[in-house]
Amino acid sequence: MDAGKAASVIRERNSETVMSQFQPGELVLLTSQKGKTWLVRAGAGSFSSHLGTVDLRDVVGREEGEFLETTQGAKVFLFRPSLGDYIHKLKRRTQVIYPKDIGAFLVYGDIRPGDVVLESGVGSGALTLALLRAVGPTGRVVSLEIRPEFAELAKKNIEVFFGKSPNNHTLVVGDITASPLALQADRVVLDLPEPWKAVEAVSACLRTGGLLVSLSPQVGQVQLVCQELKRHGYANVTTFELLKRNWKIDPRRARPEDRMIGHTGFITVAKKIACTSEEVPTIRDPEAPVPS
Ligand SMILES: C[S@@+](CC[C@H](N)C(=O)[O-])C[C@H]1O[C@@H](n2cnc3c(N)ncnc32)[C@H](O)[C@@H]1O
Repeated sequence: MDAGKAASVIRERNSETVMSQFQPGELVLLTSQKGKTWLVRAGAGSFSSHLGTVDLRDVVGREEGEFLETTQGAKVFLFRPSLGDYIHKLKRRTQVIYPKDIGAFLVYGDIRPGDVVLESGVGSGALTLALLRAVGPTGRVVSLEIRPEFAELAKKNIEVFFGKSPNNHTLVVGDITASPLALQADRVVLDLPEPWKAVEAVSACLRTGGLLVSLSPQVGQVQLVCQELKRHGYANVTTFELLKRNWKIDPRRARPEDRMIGHTGFITVAKKIACTSEEVPTIRDPEAPVPS
C-alpha cells in the first residue's frame, strides 16, 4: 500500500489510531434515504427493517458515507454514530440530558481538555459521554451515582460508545450529598433531583474560580439551588432554558415542525469565588434596576 493510500485509511483521534474503514464489531448507524436510523454492529448477522434485509458482514471494510443495498433494493447509508445519535439510541432507565442541553453544559460550563470534572448523578451516562470527550485523555471525570444499577448501566453505555472503558473516568457508587470527596475539581456538573443538598459537599471540592453547572426540570428546584449557591460563595449565578425547534424545509414549504419537545430543564451556571461561607458578600444581580 502506498503512503497516500495509508493516509486515507488511518487517522489519529484523541491520540488513538482509528481506521476509517468499518472494523468487525464496530457500531454502525444505518441510515435510510428518508433519515430513519438504526444502530447495529458491523460484522455478524443480518438486519431487517421495512426496507428489507442487509448482511452486516458487508459493512466491514466499507467507508463512512458508503451504502448497502437491501434485499428490496433500498439504499442504507453507513455512518459511525455521532454523540447526539448515540444519546438518542442508548439504553436508558433514567431521564437523560438532551444534546441541546449537553452543548450548553460544555460551553457555558467552559469544560476544556485537561479539566477535572466532578459529576453527579450519572443516570444512563449521556452527559458523562460528552464530558469524557471534552476533557480528553489529559483530563478526568469523576462521577458519583447513588444507585448501583444505574452506575452499571452507564458503565455499559460508555463502554459501548468508546469501545472500551475510558482511562480518564472514575465511576463511584455513592451519595454526593455526603462528606466531600478528596478531590480538587475545575468544574462540577449536577443532574440531581435535589441538587441544593449537594452544594455544600461539592463546593468543598471545587477550586476557586471553577464553574458549577446544574440542570433541573422544575423552577422550584432552581430557586433552592440558587439560594444554596449564593450561601456558599458563588458569583454570576445565571439560569436559562433552551428551546430547540426543528423546521421542515423542502421546495414547497419552510416552516417549523408541528411538534417539539417544549421543555427539558433549566440550566444554572455559577462561578466559585474566593471566600468562606461566613464571608459571602451580598451579590447584586447585575441586571437588576439600580435603586434611585
Ligand atoms: C436524571 S438522572 C441523571 C441523568 C444523566 N445526567 C444522563 O444524562 O444520563 C439523575 C440521577 O441522579 C442520581 N442521584 C439521585 N440522588 C443522588 C445522590 N444523592 N448522589 C448521587 N446520585 C444521585 C439518581 O439515581 C439518577 O441516576
